[in-house]
Amino acid sequence: MAKRIQFSRTGGPEVLELVEVSPGDPGPGEVRVKNAAVGLNFIDIYFRTGLYPAPSLPSGLGTEGAGVVDAVGEGVTHLAVGDRVAYAQGPLGAYAELHTLPAGKVVKLPDGIDFETAAGCMLKGLTVQYLMRQTHELKGGETILWHAAAGGVGSIACQWARALGVKLIGTVSSPEKAALAEKNGAWATIDYTKEDVVERVRELTGGAMCDVVYDSVGKDTWETSLDCLKPRSLMVSFGNASGAVTGVNLGILNQKGSLFVTRPSLNGYADTPERLQAMADELFAMLESGKITIDIAQRFPLAEAGKAQEALASRQTTGSTILLP
Ligand SMILES: NC(=O)c1ccc[n+]([C@@H]2O[C@H](COP(=O)([O-])OP(=O)(O)OC[C@H]3O[C@@H](n4cnc5c(N)ncnc54)[C@H](OP(=O)(O)O)[C@@H]3O)[C@@H](O)[C@H]2O)c1
Repeated sequence: MAKRIQFSRTGGPEVLELVEVSPGDPGPGEVRVKNAAVGLNFIDIYFRTGLYPAPSLPSGLGTEGAGVVDAVGEGVTHLAVGDRVAYAQGPLGAYAELHTLPAGKVVKLPDGIDFETAAGCMLKGLTVQYLMRQTHELKGGETILWHAAAGGVGSIACQWARALGVKLIGTVSSPEKAALAEKNGAWATIDYTKEDVVERVRELTGGAMCDVVYDSVGKDTWETSLDCLKPRSLMVSFGNASGAVTGVNLGILNQKGSLFVTRPSLNGYADTPERLQAMADELFAMLESGKITIDIAQRFPLAEAGKAQEALASRQTTGSTILLP
């Protein structure tokens, strides 16, 4: 038997329950991972609340973790029992002692990267990889706006931007979060709960505005974000921390400067084992070079997943949060 967090109805953190399940053997093409650490992500909250529907109920939760391969299904060639691994995609159910998933979603972990670091950055770091290196290939010298710069994804983005020579203007909700984002490499910060973001971006850029805006806050920041862009530049809307952006009139992209907009996801980029491996190699190289370090600012026992999600949803966390089985 193994413990896992599951939910039988959508709702608040109270719908999450710790249960004992009998872990089946991995099927063809699957592996079972004994998790050493599990990553907490905002997307887990979207599934719990029903903003993103779970395929069926009761459902496990979570897609990010790191640990040791504990069983291997038929036809799996690149992984063996005992391998140290990490993953960020696949079926819901990472909030668990044991998680079974397609082997193609699992990568080997280099010896120099510990399990907590891996669980704290697989989903978030691969996201920054595709956003900065694929959705728009930043080359250095650009000015970008990044919302929620002291959060899990944001803390990695600040460091990756610094490494690339990109001026990242980060939005945050407190002086403490501003200091953290700047320590991580943000070129400037704006408190979007108090300051006029568009005016501050205008001042900071001498009127030029931004080459790309990365917006994971969603509903509350959508229009402000469009107003921070240069003509003909790119708005990347990649999350809904304040609620989803809905009912967009495409004409607004014309009015605000012939803008481009994209709504990407990690699954749309790491969509083959080869692409996942290439993205992970780049992330791991950034970690091994010391250009990026993962700040695990919160650790919770697996049983307290609801409490951990409450902290994330109420903006109390910074950096990465992990659950420990
Ligand atoms: N599309 C993708 O591929 C992809 C992949 C990974 C993550 N994401 C998205 O990226 C975002 C960051 O994920 P994360 O797990 O690293 O979370 P996080 O950034 O650690 O936490 C979310 C942050 O959003 C900010 N925020 C602004 N308005 C908020 C509101 N109304 N309620 C709650 N938070 C609010 C808060 O920072 P302040 O207090 O500083 O405002 C909060 O700390 C999420 O929107 C997530 O869905 C998307």
